[in-house]
Amino acid sequence: MNATINLYKHLDEMLPWNDRLQVLEVVGVIDEAPDVKTFTFRSDNQTWFRYKPGQFVTLELPTADGPLMRTYTLSSSPSRPFSIAVTVKAQAGSVGTRWMFENLKPGGHVKAFGPAGEFSLHDHPSAKYLFVSAGSGITPMMSMLRWLNDFSPQTDISFVNCARRPEEIIFRKELELLGMRMPGLSLGFMIEERSSRESWFGHMGRIDAVRLPMLSPDFREREVFCCGPEPFMRAVRQMLESAGFDMEHYHEESFGRPAVMPVEAPFADVPASAPAEQAVAIRFATSGVEAECLPGQTVLQAARAAGVRISAACEFGLCGTCKVMKSAGEVEMSHNGGILESEIAEGYILCCCSRPLTPIEIEA
Ligand code: FES
Repeated sequence: MNATINLYKHLDEMLPWNDRLQVLEVVGVIDEAPDVKTFTFRSDNQTWFRYKPGQFVTLELPTADGPLMRTYTLSSSPSRPFSIAVTVKAQAGSVGTRWMFENLKPGGHVKAFGPAGEFSLHDHPSAKYLFVSAGSGITPMMSMLRWLNDFSPQTDISFVNCARRPEEIIFRKELELLGMRMPGLSLGFMIEERSSRESWFGHMGRIDAVRLPMLSPDFREREVFCCGPEPFMRAVRQMLESAGFDMEHYHEESFGRPAVMPVEAPFADVPASAPAEQAVAIRFATSGVEAECLPGQTVLQAARAAGVRISAACEFGLCGTCKVMKSAGEVEMSHNGGILESEIAEGYILCCCSRPLTPIEIEA
């Protein structure tokens, strides 16, 4: 019998992946385009991954200068739940992604937190979609497209991707294959420069008010998802607004971090200097440290002051990295979607956006 058949237990016997207990193991690294690689991970235990297509995870990269937190959208689909993948581009000057390129090989391990994020068609279901992306902003679109291919291949999708040169179009072959098998998928590629490597007969230039209707004539009727560099998303936003598009149906994400409201700084409505009544006791049960949270401090800030390490990335209540179990006491939490209601009910808090109301004890 093929040994791989016994690799996994039956799905019914497997629990969902838990970012507090399990780390990720690299099972594959694939070159996708110049300076773009896909890293595929499975759990170091036999678990499956539960997430929404379009969500992101935060990886803790153990660089020589200390752990580096980096947030990446998942390019994989939860319809294939035994592994997850991120597709990353090493931008000029990037430290984290370059570290991944040089150090993360099959068999390697990395801690991850999440998933999190609301940039998903599951949160904005529609009969017709327009996915607009530039560069590696294509990754959440790919997750959603792969999910639709598995669960609803007839869906009406207009998929527009912009790249500098033809060879920089990430997932181009897979997209063209999906274009042949998904009857409702219409693909539009747009490049800025010709390449010496191949002829190009498609659209050239930047997406604008003339080209968008050519690529997606009925764009006004679609739920729009947009991801790419901020100037690109700004241009798409402005173009849609000027075309009278109902922006309630527009959603954007900037490589893992939503760039539009309603994201707010935790406690944005409270002046930073607003005095709390008094310092509140915090017990860090795992470290055995007792400390005080001073007026105005978050639990994360109090932990740092006390020398207790709690992983954090966005520090904005968004990514879920600083989630810990609170075993006693009450907090005031002002998050931006990085924690589920069910997790709050279980007793979890996000340390970066929580302030104690009473003495508390947390598992950190
Ligand atoms: S660090 Fe991202 S939610 Fe706290």
